Amino acid sequence: MSDSVAFFISKFKEPLPETPQSLRYFQPRPYRNAAVRFAASKIEDFEKRRVVAEETGLNVFNFPARLIPGCDLLTDSGTTTMTLEQWAALVMGDESYGSNEGYFELKAQIPETFGPAWAQRNLDRENFFIFHQGRAAEHNFFNLFAGELRRRVPANDRELPNSLPAELKARIESRLEGMRQPYFIIPSNSHFDTTEGNIEDNRMIPLNLPAPEHLAGDEKFPFRGNMDLKALEVVLETLNSRVPLVYMTITNNTGGGQPVSMENIRRVSELAQKYDVPFFFDACRFAENAWFIQKKERGYENKPIPEIVHEMFGFVDGFHISFKKDGLVNIGGGMAFKEDGRFARKYSDFWMRMVDRQILVEGHPTYGGLAGRDLKALVQGLKLAVRQEYLDYRITQVVKFGAKLESYGVPLVQPIGGHAIFIDLDRFFEGTHSRDEDFKGVAFTALMLIAGHRLCELGLYAFGKYKDGKEILPNPRVNFIRAAVPRLTYEDHDLFAVAETMRVLGEHRDRIPAVEVVYGRDLFLRHFKSRFRFKR
Ligand code: F0G
Repeated sequence: MSDSVAFFISKFKEPLPETPQSLRYFQPRPYRNAAVRFAASKIEDFEKRRVVAEETGLNVFNFPARLIPGCDLLTDSGTTTMTLEQWAALVMGDESYGSNEGYFELKAQIPETFGPAWAQRNLDRENFFIFHQGRAAEHNFFNLFAGELRRRVPANDRELPNSLPAELKARIESRLEGMRQPYFIIPSNSHFDTTEGNIEDNRMIPLNLPAPEHLAGDEKFPFRGNMDLKALEVVLETLNSRVPLVYMTITNNTGGGQPVSMENIRRVSELAQKYDVPFFFDACRFAENAWFIQKKERGYENKPIPEIVHEMFGFVDGFHISFKKDGLVNIGGGMAFKEDGRFARKYSDFWMRMVDRQILVEGHPTYGGLAGRDLKALVQGLKLAVRQEYLDYRITQVVKFGAKLESYGVPLVQPIGGHAIFIDLDRFFEGTHSRDEDFKGVAFTALMLIAGHRLCELGLYAFGKYKDGKEILPNPRVNFIRAAVPRLTYEDHDLFAVAETMRVLGEHRDRIPAVEVVYGRDLFLRHFKSRFRFKR
């Protein structure tokens, strides 16, 4: 009798899939819905969406969200569905002006999440700064940092050393144009566009050094988010005094949402140490990055996610973060400096300027532009973000979505990253008469909008520039459509509906029209503001 039960238990265990199997479900989601929102419009309203899409200049950012009945995959940022624990914490928010309850809870949670080295031991010196979102932290930090550097290096020397390899020299020179002050270069595996914008806006040069495996399109390489160690060493060696900081984005959103290995993090930190340069993370998707290390890097398979996160953050001197991603909240950002890190040592008074800036632009530092209730929800979000069953489900869902698209022949950046799938437009349009200046990626997203789903172009339009009547292509070339999956929001079924629409576009890709830019081609951060129309 009991043997039969044991038999069935072994049978129940058997099909639990290690890898996603399309349309076969053996494991329920690790959560249940506690509230649902019905769509405000119908999938059949194609004509209506066509009119609105054309009226709003085929710009996905301008299209009213309530007219999207399908999946809104514009971003995974701030679009999280919160848990009941988070909603409960929100209701318990303490809205005192100074030193609210949530602030103390968050201060205690930071070292829990990122490791004990991030606790504030010196009570006279703040080490963690709240901002209302990631880019507010970036803007204020880079603005203050550029000022600090220029005070220290008054020389007006713009010559680049001849020992710099020609390719890197040309890339940096193209950015030096018009820069009258001394230059500073901030290398990264790949800066996100707001990080890049904020660095540039403060007259410094962001320099992306993605790993050679990524540039070669190596689909077997599990850590395509890595940084090019050789190129980094050349930059540090040749331009030493002009590299005040090394950055690393985890996971590498611009490069395809790809993770960075612990080995790469460690080796970048060794180089940063050798050249005595502080090393920072853009840590938005730290938990997803840790999950990939656990699944793909030898020696980490049995390590719990929280320990992997602590190890990762052991290598850096500071980080900035948008909590709208792996903080699992709808708003929030922050910046931290490790008390005994290289940055805090080199710029010992810098924290004071950060506090002043918080007061000037975000309110009291103990709420940093957020409501007290937001801080409480964030604390719960940070606890959930590193839970194994959450991350297993979260990333497997994205991988399953990608597998479905692959089965329809839609070319993706492989392996699939943590928060999004990236469609490789160059391969998608291969064999058609598509030209770079047709901006077919924009047309693709406009057609998807009309179909009822929202995605964004992160390619020749988003990353290209228009100068003196000429398009300047992103270098290295990036030509993707991104479908970012909000956390805990959609079911596989919903994402498969997106895949079906993309199948249709793929089957008729030679009929996807070109678009022309009717406004904003030459603007800074142009993809947020431009308007287009379909070419007949
Ligand atoms: N860094 C990375 C890697 C990001 O992905 C983002 C935002 C930011 C910084 C800025 O944070 O939005 O809170 O100001 N990424 C969103 C996206 C917008 O869609 O990828 P924020």
